[in-house]
Amino acid sequence: MKAVTWHGKRDVRVVEVPDPKIEEPTDAIIRVTTTNICGSVLHLYEVLGAFMDRGDVLGHEAMGIVEEVGSAVTQIKPGDRVVIPFQMSCGSCYSCDQQLYTQCETTQVREYGSGAALFGYSKMYGQVPGGQAEYLRVPQAQFTHVRVPDGPPDERYVYLSDVLPTAWQAVEYASIPDGGTVVILGLGPIGDMSSRIAAHKGARVIGVDLVPERLERVRARGNEVVDLREHEKDLGDAIRDMTDGRGPDSVIDAVGMEAHGSPVPKFAQTLAGLLPDALAQPIMQKAGVDRLTALYSAIDIVRRGGTISLSGVYGGTADPLPMLTLFDKQIQLRMGQANVKRWVDDIMPLLDDEDVLGVETFATHRIPLADAPKAYETFQKKEDGAVKYVMTP
Ligand SMILES: NC(=O)c1ccc[n+]([C@@H]2O[C@H](COP(=O)([O-])OP(=O)(O)OC[C@H]3O[C@@H](n4cnc5c(N)ncnc54)[C@H](O)[C@@H]3O)[C@@H](O)[C@H]2O)c1
Ligand SMILES: [Zn+2]
Ligand SMILES: [Zn+2]
Repeated sequence: MKAVTWHGKRDVRVVEVPDPKIEEPTDAIIRVTTTNICGSVLHLYEVLGAFMDRGDVLGHEAMGIVEEVGSAVTQIKPGDRVVIPFQMSCGSCYSCDQQLYTQCETTQVREYGSGAALFGYSKMYGQVPGGQAEYLRVPQAQFTHVRVPDGPPDERYVYLSDVLPTAWQAVEYASIPDGGTVVILGLGPIGDMSSRIAAHKGARVIGVDLVPERLERVRARGNEVVDLREHEKDLGDAIRDMTDGRGPDSVIDAVGMEAHGSPVPKFAQTLAGLLPDALAQPIMQKAGVDRLTALYSAIDIVRRGGTISLSGVYGGTADPLPMLTLFDKQIQLRMGQANVKRWVDDIMPLLDDEDVLGVETFATHRIPLADAPKAYETFQKKEDGAVKYVMTP
């Protein structure tokens, strides 16, 4: 089959790889009908390459039709239409019982001290072949699936794999009080969708980014936006001016570790990207080379006693944090990979013909799988108005 594979820093290729087969009784094979490019994959493309091997199949936002199931999988059958969550979870361990599916104890990648295995997401997350391919093997398929109705187009449901539950969890974790205000840092797919969900729930939304089309998409839906390019030095003051001098109740950081505006770690990340894996892995894992600009902004912006919700991914372990300010401002901080199936029942009613979240017009680009290498490049450079790529194998 054809698959999108990693070959090195900023080197993604579509190549022929062996078709996946059922390996465990709990596996299923899916014929992929739609698969997206995600902002998270850019971390692999750029800074986390040390944990990838040449030929690893990328992607974790796939849906399709069940082709075959292992003997232990009775919950789905060939012909069923399913969306595959980006994480694998068993549905019956201690963590899954608490709906903390990204902490699943059956699929945790203990060798790297990581939570649940993720599709196409490096050795740190189990090195499981990803969904940017014609077929996908789904481990723990008895639980790792979301059944969706036949009929509506794939784009109605495909974001249940990641964007929708991630944005939903970001908004939940932000604990925005009734009629309160949330600032969303970063208006990529996750920040954009978070703005739609927060607005749908009645919050006042202020979005921040530095890419004009991304600001415009969020403004066009009736939200306020702040262009970071005009407020590099005084973002906190600009937002306090808009919020009674106090700051918003909640801030969602939908930027993560590749934030614009912190030159020193940028150098360390670039250095790690150039070193042989054996040297680069400990730098990336231990040295703490995140670019914390967005998180620092969030800490500055949020009102005293407010809540910060981190959905952007951070990976370092030694970054100094402004603990004094966090403590003094009595800030509540919540974070983590989205527990996909925790939120599906909340989201599903919004995915009807009314399409209040605008999922069917969310993608900016629809392309064949063969065009993935160019798309990765364009998406990484944020050119051509690229916010979300949807691919057809
Ligand atoms: N928690 C989860 O389960 C989960 C799931 C998916 C994605 N993510 C993470 O969420 C983050 C966002 O994902 P995405 O797909 O929207 O990525 P993206 O890269 O498309 O979006 C990030 C946006 O942040 C903007 N930005 C950069 N620096 C900024 C700054 N200092 N202040 C404000 N905005 C800034 C960029 O211009 C960009 O538009 C990534 O870190 C991704 O890995 C987390
Ligand atoms: Zn993703
Ligand atoms: Zn589990």
